Amino acid sequence: MDLKLSTLLCLTLLFSTILNPALSELCNPKDKKVLLQIKKAFNNPYVLSSWNPKTDCCDWYSVTCDSTTNRVNSLTLFSGGLSGQIPPQVGDLPYLELLQFHKQPNLTGPIQPSIAKLKSLKLLRLSWTNISGRLCP
Ligand SMILES: *[C@@H]1O[C@H](CO)[C@@H](O)[C@H](O)[C@H]1NC(C)=O
Ligand SMILES: *[C@@H]1O[C@H](CO)[C@@H](O)[C@H](O)[C@H]1NC(C)=O
Repeated sequence: MDLKLSTLLCLTLLFSTILNPALSELCNPKDKKVLLQIKKAFNNPYVLSSWNPKTDCCDWYSVTCDSTTNRVNSLTLFSGGLSGQIPPQVGDLPYLELLQFHKQPNLTGPIQPSIAKLKSLKLLRLSWTNISGRLCP
């Protein structure tokens, strides 16, 4: 009897996880909010069309999450499509270890100072862009 009940409970949980995307979503809601702000700051470019608020941000193009904490740990935006400046919100992804912008010729302006807030950052790559300036003031 006990066993049956727990099996049933387990199955119910399993199915609700599969059927309810909100439950199976790994993405941290704070990270998702920041990523959506970044998308907006870049004027919703086509390259970020997979960044849909209804889906798990850990599945989004260019985004990876840590496998244990599920916090966004890398953002790698390769090949065109982005223009303007790197938005200050990139500094609000506190678990970011890797930040790369590559082949973004229309990306301009100074290096975003808020990047200095990223305490876990191990690699910052700004290659083939038109970003200029210095990392330290
Ligand atoms: C950069 O901007 C120019 C002018 O708006 C446009 O023609 C070009 O396609 C853009 N390049 C990329 C890689 O998006
Ligand atoms: C970016 O830099 C390249 C040279 O590095 C230049 O040819 C191009 O016009 C620049 N694009 C913009 C949008 O400033």
